[in-house]
Amino acid sequence: MYKIENHKVTDAARSRTHIDEAGYERLYRQSIDEPDTFWSDQAKRFLTWDQPWSKVHESDLSQGQAAWFIDGKLNVSVNCIDRHLETRGDQAAIIWEGDEPDQDKHITYRELHEQVCRLANVLKERGVKKGDRVCLYMPMIPEAAYAMLACARIGAVHSVVFGGFSPDALRDRINDADCQAVITADEGVRGGKRVPLKQNVEKALQECPNVHTVVTVQRTGGDIAWDSQRDVWYHEACAKVDADCPPEPMDSEDPLFILYTSGSTGKPKGVLHTTAGYLLGSAMTHHYVFDYQDGEVYWCTADVGWITGHSYIVYGPLCNGATTLIFEGVPTYPDASRCWQVVDKHKVNIFYTAPTAIRALMAQGNDPVTSTSRASLRLLGTVGEPINPEAWEWYYHVIGETRCPIVDTWWQTETGAIMITPLPGATDLKPGSATRPFFGVEPALYDPEGNELEGATSGNLVIKRSWPSQIRTVYGDHQRLIDTYFSTYKGVYFTGDGARRDEDGYYWITGRVDDVLNVSGHRIGTAEVESALVLHDAVAEAAVVGCPHDIKGQCIYAFVMPMRGVTPSDDLIKELKAFVAEQVGSFAKPDFIQWTPGLPKTRSGKIMRRILRKIACDELDSLGDTSTLADPAVVEELIANRQNRG
Ligand code: WTA
Repeated sequence: MYKIENHKVTDAARSRTHIDEAGYERLYRQSIDEPDTFWSDQAKRFLTWDQPWSKVHESDLSQGQAAWFIDGKLNVSVNCIDRHLETRGDQAAIIWEGDEPDQDKHITYRELHEQVCRLANVLKERGVKKGDRVCLYMPMIPEAAYAMLACARIGAVHSVVFGGFSPDALRDRINDADCQAVITADEGVRGGKRVPLKQNVEKALQECPNVHTVVTVQRTGGDIAWDSQRDVWYHEACAKVDADCPPEPMDSEDPLFILYTSGSTGKPKGVLHTTAGYLLGSAMTHHYVFDYQDGEVYWCTADVGWITGHSYIVYGPLCNGATTLIFEGVPTYPDASRCWQVVDKHKVNIFYTAPTAIRALMAQGNDPVTSTSRASLRLLGTVGEPINPEAWEWYYHVIGETRCPIVDTWWQTETGAIMITPLPGATDLKPGSATRPFFGVEPALYDPEGNELEGATSGNLVIKRSWPSQIRTVYGDHQRLIDTYFSTYKGVYFTGDGARRDEDGYYWITGRVDDVLNVSGHRIGTAEVESALVLHDAVAEAAVVGCPHDIKGQCIYAFVMPMRGVTPSDDLIKELKAFVAEQVGSFAKPDFIQWTPGLPKTRSGKIMRRILRKIACDELDSLGDTSTLADPAVVEELIANRQNRG
């Protein structure tokens, strides 16, 4: 085990970075004291505009309202492709590494331009117009990026649904956003297994009356059903259309995409991001946080189905003219060396992944790592959940051989871009801390009553002012945006996370303070799993909590009350797990299901999750006050039958 200690900005990092300590202090101060000047400078530097803005920014957070670069016009696909053609037409925009180690390809910016234009023309030909929503349900293939950019080119709004979601979850998302077209693949390939994407689309569309077009990429050639009215093959349709497509001029505040995410209550929310602010946020953070230097190869292992894939596989890197690596597979296939073999094969310089992947690889020992060179690596990053200091030190010592700074980046689907993070060359590192706010981000800690806490302390993390890449609305339900993020504390954005601030002003994210779980870096609402469980005929009531898990960060523990007349059994537990996988996706499957004749409730009928969490996590010493329960006896029964004993 490595000693857990603070790490100074290394000289190696400092000699190359875009910014140093003094530069960070100066720019951060300017971003807070003179935001209009700061953001104007950045927007000119990072983006290419068709028409400049008339006003930098306007917001009223109490109404959940924010607008940036008002009246400005630009097109995201032009910023990510066309403007690079002159200087980088022959540079790889995308390096694709397939699931099998012998499959890869390089796509230059020029090829990217052609592919995106062709698909944009196909969408246009099928009647997709500016403002229409298009659902993407894709494996990790270059066409996923083409599809996002093709939508951006014609002003259509994409809604990417992670390929691990079930047909039912896909259906709900298609209908909520009223998507009229879907782009998918015949099958996905991950870790040697096939994922029946088109078949899932087929099932979903049985209840999506408004979808008129499905464009299918041929990835495996597997057998699929076909509807000649609705279905077109990607390769056939793209071959028939023009290789150029004029970009649609978009307003700064025109929607760019919707991405569904889980909250503490109710169905997933369609987080809406708009054009200019989002693109600026993702490009600027990609530049400063990953310290991207011309010609480098950058690899983010996320899936494009999540926000990390949107901002840091596609939009940020391509806006900056980077070479971004898209990996179809998983870190442990064919074996636990895979990531480092890919790093050596493509000479990856910057590597960004989730703590859960680091912990899983760490559990396999050092040999799969030390058998590779990794000499090209110079910067490492993490995202998605708190990283435990032991895993941090392993990442630092074994993967990066103490040469690579680690950027622990805190942010959310709703924030669009990284918010709290070290900047290489500018921030001394403390393992487990996301450190300091990025430019323009004004974090604060509040107590439950809404008082701001000063100095070294812990509290609920809020953001006190608007930032360009912030969520603009919950699609179709602006009130829900206000209620979820801007009502807990009037006039500020509530993150849902708890945090500690130390004596150096460093932030340490402690995790969600609401009922959102983080399982292997996947964000899952307890309410989603609960509503899936109660849909099953055998279930009367269900309550779901998260427990710490060595590799996954958290695991899912469900308490289930059977319907009258149902006999609880192990087989039924198996069935329920499979049922959740079917309703939501297999990543949301409970690890433990415990039968119970009742749930602990307050006299007003509210489930006491605090108690359930303690029981599930085997923390019986700190059960707390159970006297307010309607029926305290139920607790004894729950304790006696708990599943997760340490
Ligand atoms: C958690 C992922 C600790 C946090 C980009 C947040 C983190 C949720 C970190 C958002 C980090 C993300 N340290 N926790 N560096 N990054 N989180 O929307 O709880 O999938 O609220 O966005 O992940 O998850 P989401």
